[in-house]
Amino acid sequence: MSSRPRLLITAGPTREHVDPVRFLSNASTGAQGAALAEEALARGCIVDFVHGPLAVPVPAGVIAHAVVSAQDMLDAALRLHPACDAVIGAAAVSDFRPRETTAGKRKRGSGAWTLELVPTADILRALGERKGHRVHAGFALETDDLAANALRKLHEKQLDWLVANSPQAIGAAESRYLLLGRDGTQRDLGVLTKRALAAVLLDVLLGPVRP
Ligand code: C5P
Repeated sequence: MSSRPRLLITAGPTREHVDPVRFLSNASTGAQGAALAEEALARGCIVDFVHGPLAVPVPAGVIAHAVVSAQDMLDAALRLHPACDAVIGAAAVSDFRPRETTAGKRKRGSGAWTLELVPTADILRALGERKGHRVHAGFALETDDLAANALRKLHEKQLDWLVANSPQAIGAAESRYLLLGRDGTQRDLGVLTKRALAAVLLDVLLGPVRP
């Protein structure tokens, strides 16, 4: 890895529009992605920050790429991936999108509205297929069988590292994390702030380098 590693970080939710004013999304704030970017910048990394609509500020110093939908995020990530040394997928990508988006706003009083949802692309999986020499990390939010489901995702997405936690982590200042490695590592990290978790993840990704 070069002396100034280039990191691609995805952050925040995506929005899948139903019409120009309505969308499907989730409660992700982008705080974990922002904490990762801040920690990476503090270590001298160049950070490509691909983010959906955030509830927190975009960290000063990143190269920001604002996107809306999962497809936009995939396009930006595929474009930026060849130049990066490492990837951290911290975005809470919408898993489904409406099959159709109407051009105009649907009016009230038009009766029931049935939406058909289709899956979006798995961004980390697509990047994993082009992984080459790069180091990839992701997150898994699991309600049950945390370690087993997380391990399956690590392999499916060809990740080197995966941080597993529970949905209570969304918007929370602190949360309990489990770190899994492709090398068989399973470390209960205990309760950490998002910034402290970012430091642990960057240590394993880049080595414990400090400016
Ligand atoms: O499969 P699941 O959504 O639980 O995986 C979570 C991990 O995969 C996160 O790192 C997330 O950023 C990434 N992901 C993705 N594209 C998707 C869904 C999740 O990159 N469509």
